[in-house]
Amino acid sequence: TPKKTAQHDPFALVSEEMKSLVKSIGALIGSGHPTLNRVASYYFESRGKNVRPLIVLLISKSLAEIPKSERTRITVDTRDINDQNEYRGISSAMSFAGADPEHSITPLKILYGLNPNIILNPLSKSFNQSEKIKSMDAENGILPRQRRLAEITEIIHTSSLLHDDVIDIADSRRGRPSANIAFTNKMSILAGDFLLARASVALSRLRNNEVTELMSTAIANLVEGEFMQLKNTVFQPNVDQITNDGESKQIPAPTGRVPLKVPEYSLKQPQVTFSHDENVKAAFEYYIHKTYLKTASLMSKSARSAAVLSGCNDEMIDHCYNFGRNLGLCFQIVDDMLDYTTNEDVLGKPAGADLKLGLATAPVLYAWQMKPEIGPLIARKFNSPGDVELARSAVVESDGVQKTRKLAEKFRDAALAHLRCLPESDARSALEFLTNSVVTRKK
Ligand code: FPP
Ligand code: MG
Ligand code: MG
Repeated sequence: TPKKTAQHDPFALVSEEMKSLVKSIGALIGSGHPTLNRVASYYFESRGKNVRPLIVLLISKSLAEIPKSERTRITVDTRDINDQNEYRGISSAMSFAGADPEHSITPLKILYGLNPNIILNPLSKSFNQSEKIKSMDAENGILPRQRRLAEITEIIHTSSLLHDDVIDIADSRRGRPSANIAFTNKMSILAGDFLLARASVALSRLRNNEVTELMSTAIANLVEGEFMQLKNTVFQPNVDQITNDGESKQIPAPTGRVPLKVPEYSLKQPQVTFSHDENVKAAFEYYIHKTYLKTASLMSKSARSAAVLSGCNDEMIDHCYNFGRNLGLCFQIVDDMLDYTTNEDVLGKPAGADLKLGLATAPVLYAWQMKPEIGPLIARKFNSPGDVELARSAVVESDGVQKTRKLAEKFRDAALAHLRCLPESDARSALEFLTNSVVTRKK
């Protein structure tokens, strides 16, 4: 177990940022309706793990170690991300009206010490410059945009939890009644949609198309992952439709009329019969892909976005992405393991829920690997009397939990390997601590 020292405590280095996170989120999610306000802010009132914001803040801080001159992949728009006029659409209207590129903005570039090749948005001349300089500067190595990204990723995550608890018919989360119980299914869904919309507004205000695309794709991936889980099947998915890196099909650029393609999975039993081992292998691939979409995508794309905003080179951006991807896979696999090993008092949410929901996660897939007779139970989603108990003892007899831990450790090690390609720093050590504690966590 890694020792928690002040230096390696992931919270210590960014404690100020974490303190202001919830407050800033509060400012982003205020609505005109008091009840909507209550539901939308409900999960922010009790402390979550804040893994996604921690990843964003600590990656940002780690990358600040790279000399600015080597971080030239910067796209800058000097409009203040806190400009309230944006909400009234004034700037958008000005944008559409066409900005006047005649006005030189070179003095601003000099003030910011920026690469002269960077194209600043011509609208910037209309804003108060001294204020902007303050808001553009990195504090504690973290840019205001990166702090905002940390807020956005937590809002997206929370929005998915509001929906998830309706889908999973949950009764508790973070040690309290879940929102579907405290309010209603309808209000949970609507509040989730509202949070997603506000996250989108904040995202667009980052004025970085690459980041907008990454984070929007992560939202799409959450839904795709949830659908894969809904239609959980032991049969081989139509793997031709899945690209190797676990990404779903790209939406083509909007040039003319383009058909929108989404991945397709065949739920039909394949014509050829597969061996038991082949079936197990396919089920694991399906499980890992689902896990990437439902959990690792948001983490990896948040990590990638933080690196994009830092302006590092493509190689470093890829290391950040792959760090987040492996950490995310590790994180969810441990989550699936805890569902078998802990109780509701520790978790703050129902334990032993997955089998009851009909979900075959890693522990029971390992049980099936050793005991082919578990296959039919998985196929019928453990809905016959005694299925859940039978599956549970098969997991025990086949060391399913220990094997699941080993699988999580494999992804943890891959995450650490990518992390070590970032410059050495306290922030990187904190990320190492965070990565190690994902496997040892109890909730
Ligand atoms: C928690 O998993 C849920 C997720 C990681 C994603 C849920 C995604 C959706 C419901 C799609 C809709 C998305 C948006 C953005 C509105 P879990 O149920 O395994 O974990 P739990 O035990 O914490 O509930
Ligand atoms: Mg759930
Ligand atoms: Mg769920």
